Amino acid sequence: MHLSKTISGLQQHLLKAAQKGLEIGFVPTMGALHNGHISLIKKALSENDLVVCSIFVNPTQFNQAADLETYPRTPAEDIALLTLAGNHILFHPEVNEMYPSGMQVKSRDLGPVSSIFEGASRPGHFDGVAEVVSRLLNVVKPMRAYFGLKDYQQCMIIKSLVELEHIPVSLVFCPTQREPDGLAMSSRNRRLSPENREQAIVISRTLFEMKDNYRFEQKQELLESCRARLSKSLQMEYLDIVNARTLMPLQSAAESAVALFAGRCGEVRLIDNMLLTE
Ligand code: PAF
Repeated sequence: MHLSKTISGLQQHLLKAAQKGLEIGFVPTMGALHNGHISLIKKALSENDLVVCSIFVNPTQFNQAADLETYPRTPAEDIALLTLAGNHILFHPEVNEMYPSGMQVKSRDLGPVSSIFEGASRPGHFDGVAEVVSRLLNVVKPMRAYFGLKDYQQCMIIKSLVELEHIPVSLVFCPTQREPDGLAMSSRNRRLSPENREQAIVISRTLFEMKDNYRFEQKQELLESCRARLSKSLQMEYLDIVNARTLMPLQSAAESAVALFAGRCGEVRLIDNMLLTE
């Protein structure tokens, strides 16, 4: 696997690929890789000639300094996993490389989706995500870019960003990968204590039950019982059922619905979601 730490080094490498007419797939990550990321790499490998993975813990998307400091960083393990998966190029820049003029974040109108749920809980988070994804897509210029649906709202934000800035890329959103007991794979899971890891199982269990029992007409009753159940085991921030495309309140049974969850197990903030209708 080729490793580039600089934009110019990466672009030199990619120029040769572009001259040969190779199709480039891109998997942006913040490292601490797990099988969820590796499934994105494998999908990208199956659809492109050359796959670039980036590892960059983006400071501008953290609204709490402590969260940025404690975000897991496991570069040696990440490189081993990417090599094993057959990834072609790793782009692993320092902060100065991505933000040479300081942590400037452009103000963008990413629509109403940007200010609800994660946008409300973590002010500035999506502005930081949009900033770094825009910079990364401009550097790598891939034909396809791969994102996990575990960060459901992030996928909607990136879709808005790409439309807003007319970035010529196809977005590929891939299903959430889960542990055998249902917990959604996340880099944050490794910070869960054994007790909190046990508590976290209630999240996916509840979401799967919601999928089994969802009926538009009884949405409120379902939400109330599920919120009560989750609040017993962990510190729930939100659980809601909304339109799967707009993330706005549902108006009719014909709309596709998604359940969105965020909460804390001990010190660790987890999010998960479930499409409730096909
Ligand atoms: O989902 C992530 O890991 C990050 O938000 C992303 C898309 C790599 C941007 O930093």
